[in-house]
Amino acid sequence: MRTDTRIVNSWNEWDTLQEVVVGTAENACFEPTEPGHRPQERGLSEPRPFPTGPKPRELNEKAEEELTGLVSLLESQGVTVRRPAPRDYSVPLKTPTFEVENQYCAVCPRDVMITLGNEILEATMSRRSRYFEYEAYRSLVYKYWDEDPLMTWSVAPKPSMADDMYRQDFWTWPLSKRHEEMHNFEFCVTQDEVVFDAADMARMGKDIFVQESMTTNRAGIRWITRHLEPKGFRVHPVHFPLDYFPSHIDATFIPLRAGLVLTNPERPINSGEEKLFLANDWEFVTAPQPLTGNDEMPRYCQSSKWVSINVLSISPSKIIVEEQEKPLQDLLCSLGFEVFPLPFRHVYEYGGSLHCATWDVRRDGVCEDYFP
Ligand code: ARG
Repeated sequence: MRTDTRIVNSWNEWDTLQEVVVGTAENACFEPTEPGHRPQERGLSEPRPFPTGPKPRELNEKAEEELTGLVSLLESQGVTVRRPAPRDYSVPLKTPTFEVENQYCAVCPRDVMITLGNEILEATMSRRSRYFEYEAYRSLVYKYWDEDPLMTWSVAPKPSMADDMYRQDFWTWPLSKRHEEMHNFEFCVTQDEVVFDAADMARMGKDIFVQESMTTNRAGIRWITRHLEPKGFRVHPVHFPLDYFPSHIDATFIPLRAGLVLTNPERPINSGEEKLFLANDWEFVTAPQPLTGNDEMPRYCQSSKWVSINVLSISPSKIIVEEQEKPLQDLLCSLGFEVFPLPFRHVYEYGGSLHCATWDVRRDGVCEDYFP
């Protein structure tokens, strides 16, 4: 048993990366239509039902090729890379409270798993098809658990995902109603059960910022707060009222290094929530427009063009950016970063980019207080 160094240790999104899990597109399926999710195919004049079951092999292969490219780049930078265990996502699920025709994939470990210092936390998840996604990472968690006696492991309470956990009419609200409701932060998940996806959290040392969203409700944030604050963290709910379909913070508000956050010009932070940053001399830098518009995103992609800003830090001065996103690369260069461009657009198909497709297990560094 290793006791000399910690294996599980990551306090923020930017310290030097030492060990990471990169997702896989193997066996990926279409995301099913369910109360918490209404996937839509792009570019149709007449809507038609979203496909179900396994995604076409060539889509999965193209994404896998790019994910393998990310593995090689990280390894060339001295990072240890692990991959999820293979699983069959075409298997339907039936629990006492819900049924779903197939599961999704393990392209985005970020959505499910989070390292908070020396703890690994498995999120509750918010959609039926992703309920068992943690299984792809269990053998790794056991490996870390066996090798790192100082690591702690927590599993958040699984919600029922029954029909009444969701607000069905959310999906048909007209834009005017969304506009009226935008400061109420009520989305498709109700407030009765604890619900959160790991990717709604941004880690900045002692301070964890959690976005209230379609995938994280207020009960979820309360659970995270009560779980983390006794361990010395401070948890801050954050909101981006102009994002009518918010899910996962990492295409909206991305810390790049201590004192610097990349922000989305179409999703400003809720008025007042910027104060903690400004009072501590943090700077916000506005991201340039993505290279492709929402209409040119991959056909089955359910995320917006803003996955363009879903960058992955190798260290406080080295950062991986999607190959075609030149304006963002130039901005980051001008801020002193060494930029590593990497083709990743086929992974967009699965709703995320470089940050989503990874889960950092170890970065160097300790818990710092960036907001004293
Ligand atoms: N919902 C975000 C958007 O459309 C994408 C977030 C992707 N992040 C992730 N961890 N899967 O802009």
